[in-house]
Formats: sequence, structure tokens, C-alpha cells
Amino acid sequence: LGNDVANPGIPLPRALFAPRRENSQGFDLSDDRVLAGIFDARDRAAPVPQADGDAVTNPANGEIVGHQLQATKAEVAAALDTVRPWDAPAGERAAILNRAADLYKADAGAIFALLAREAGKTLPDAVAELREAVDFLRYYATGAAALDRPALGVVAAISPWNFPLAIFTGQVAAALAAGNGVLAKPAEETPLIAAHAVRLLHQAGVPEHVLQLLAGPGEVVGAALTADPRVSGVVFTGSTETARIIRRSMAAHLAPDAPLIAETGGLNAMIVDSTALPEQAVRDIVNGAFRSAGQRCSALRCLYVQEDVAPHLTRMLTGAMDQLRLGDPWQVETDVGPVIDESAKAGITAHIEAARAEGRVLHQLDAPAKGSFVPPTLIRVKGIADLEREVFGPVLHLATFKSADLDRVVDDINATGYGLTFGLHTRIDGRVQEMVDRVHAGNIYVNRNQIGAVVGSQPFGGEGLSGTGPKAGGPEYLNRFTRPKAGGQAG
Ligand code: SER
Repeated sequence: LGNDVANPGIPLPRALFAPRRENSQGFDLSDDRVLAGIFDARDRAAPVPQADGDAVTNPANGEIVGHQLQATKAEVAAALDTVRPWDAPAGERAAILNRAADLYKADAGAIFALLAREAGKTLPDAVAELREAVDFLRYYATGAAALDRPALGVVAAISPWNFPLAIFTGQVAAALAAGNGVLAKPAEETPLIAAHAVRLLHQAGVPEHVLQLLAGPGEVVGAALTADPRVSGVVFTGSTETARIIRRSMAAHLAPDAPLIAETGGLNAMIVDSTALPEQAVRDIVNGAFRSAGQRCSALRCLYVQEDVAPHLTRMLTGAMDQLRLGDPWQVETDVGPVIDESAKAGITAHIEAARAEGRVLHQLDAPAKGSFVPPTLIRVKGIADLEREVFGPVLHLATFKSADLDRVVDDINATGYGLTFGLHTRIDGRVQEMVDRVHAGNIYVNRNQIGAVVGSQPFGGEGLSGTGPKAGGPEYLNRFTRPKAGGQAG
């Protein structure tokens, strides 16, 4: 949306998009400043064009991927003057979201390159992420037709860097499907993939006065959005602490009925008892703890293994860890890429070194010296209570338990206050039901890993400190982006 296109009378923030145009290769381009990354992502040998704005870097090697322009408070206010609810009929909104899904798929190459270069995603993770984004678009498009309630108005969508396409798209698509206008604030670490997604959504037919992107820090853009009474609802994925800040701001400034739909952190456990199949358990532990370099809110953080089988299972686990390949996420053989940036690496490394000083590091791989890599690490703990916080990286904590102590283990897991994912490996049928009944967690997985919830069949979201609900990719989600219908019977 630029000053020379639609609505020239409306002052438009510079962080919003310039008009679309085609470059010589026929790509749909909008803004050279934001697009620097996309040129480069399509052709990895191409020099990055000079650009103003802040550099966005590749976590695997520190190279500049592109640049972002950060919105100011005044620009957020101007965007709020511009963006309006989407008044197209539900069928038309659904058709446009489905068209966006087609465009996402057709653009898979550029999307994979951006996910690898801006977010450090391995190729399997990039493929899974694109699939999830496409699923969100189609799932919410289908849901739009069934809604018979009015939109909230304008929704602020604040998304994280760990799923910069899937969660970004899920939030935006849900808000749009329900007929809202959307101001999307991507994570500061991953604005380019968000810009690319918004461009595809616009290209599919989402009007520019209905969806705009506002890049910038949470303290500026997020704070301005969540303190403006023109915002009628906020959808947020990120830390529990940030969700608290958002809630306080909303309580002070937004309408009392403005919903906060938040998906936050987790301290996720898995219990492996002595009846579990060790090969299956080890495969699922490695995936749950180390895939995506552990940067999933669903990831396994604390593994409880029954004492009798612990020596054998730990040997198998460290052997399986040794098979993981760390390195350039763009290479097909890579299993574990970098963490998102140097500051994340420093925080995770400090946690590992504190454990090492106490002699609790059981196993650790080697990591490339250059780039924001953290080696997959296994740390001994007495129990989940030893984890003071969610360590968002490839670090697994291992505790053992005696059969007689299982109740206490469950109490300890529940006592963290989080309730996102829980994994169980057992062949005792009665134990499955007992755990499902007792453990407080939004997503419980039995005899499989605990990451990678599938849109539509495994709605995702937690309880307690892990989120407000409703679950993303589930049947309740869209309703939360609407208002109760006026009218009805008194009573
Ligand atoms: N939805 C993701 C998963 O299930 C978590 O963020 O792994």
C-alpha cells in the first residue's frame, strides 16, 4: 500500500508496502527495502542489494539476508486509521484464502529458502512449516462459511520467530476468515518471511486496507497496538511473560470484551516406563527434544525414564544423538540447524554451563564453531522442578523414577503450572487413561513424539501458563475472532 496507489488521501506509514511490480524475472515484488532478502533467497549467489532499514541476518553464518523498516508509534496509529474489517461475504473470503494457499504452494522454493536463511529452518522443517501454513489457510477458509457471527473488527496479530510462516499465517488467516481487518506484527528476527506471506495474501485478493504488516520491536509496535482502543482483539504466540504484559495493556486501554487469544510457553515432559518399546521411545525423544533445534513450544524438555530401563535407554539415546548432523540448514543431510541468534545461543549455553559446573551434563555433541549453533545436550536432573524456566533450545533434561513414585512425578509435572504437551510411552493400557485423566496438558501424545500437531486433527494449545485457548487448528478457534450475535431471546 503506497502513497501513489489506493486512497492517496490517507497518510500511509512507510512500513507498509509499496505498490506491487514485477521484476525482470517475473517475480512479484513490492518493496526493494523489504525485498532485499527475497532477491537473495532466490539466488543464493546474488549480492544483497544495498538497503536502508535494519539488517536481518542468517543465524547459521551471520550473513545479511535482507533489511526491515521498523514502524514507529505514529505509523502504527496511521495504520489503524487505514485498516478496516473485511466486508466481503464469507464465501469470497474463503475463496481468497484458498487462492493464497495455492500461491504459497506455487512459491515453495522461495519460501523454503527464506525459512532456511532467515529462521535457520532445516529443509524437513521448512516443508512441514509450509504444509502447516497451507493447512491453516484451507482449514479456516472452510470454517469461514459456517460462521454466522460478526467479526470483532480489527485484530492485532503478534507472532513468533520459531514458526515465522505457519503461526504467522494461522493467526492472520483465522482473523481474516472471520471477517476482521488485521495488523500483523511479525517477530523482529523474521520479518522477511512475514512480508513475503503478506505479499502473497494481497496477491490472492486480500485487500490492502484489510491486512497490513507492521515490523518492529514489541516495545514499540506491540505496545502501541495493544494500547489502542481501535483494536478489538489480540492474537499472540510467544512467551508467558509477554502475554502478561499484553493482557495488562489490553485491560488498561481496550474494550473490556476484547479477547486475548494467547499461546505461550511450555515445560513439557515425557514419561517412559519399563514396558515401552525402547527403539520407538528413543526415536520420539530425539525428535521431540532436538528437531527444530528444540525451538518449539511443544518440544520435550524433561524426560522421565523408569529406573529399571534407564541405563539401557540412556545408552540408546546418546547413541541416537551421536547420529544427528548439525550444520547448514540448507543442506539436505542436516538434522539440526542453528538457534535463532547469538543472544539465544548465549542464554542456552549459560544454562548448559551451569549444569556442567555441577557435573550434570551427561552427553553433548559438537557444534560448528561459526554461527548460532548450540550442540544437542543431555542434562541430568532430579525432576522437572529443577527446571527454573523453559530453555528454548536443543537441551534435554533426564530424570529417573521408581514405579512407586509415578504419582509424585505427575504431581511435579502439574506443579510447574504449564500445560502444553505431554508424552507417554507405555504398553499398559490402564496407565494411558490414568495419565490422560491426571496430567494437565493441552496436547497429550501416547507412544509417539509430542511435536508437530496437525491442523484439523490435532488442535494445538495449552492450559495454565501455556495459553488461553481456544486451540489453533481446531473447531472452536474461529468463533473467538467473532462477537456473539446481537439479538436473541431475553432471559
Ligand atoms: N504447533 C507446533 C507443534 O505442535 C508447536 O509450536 O509442534
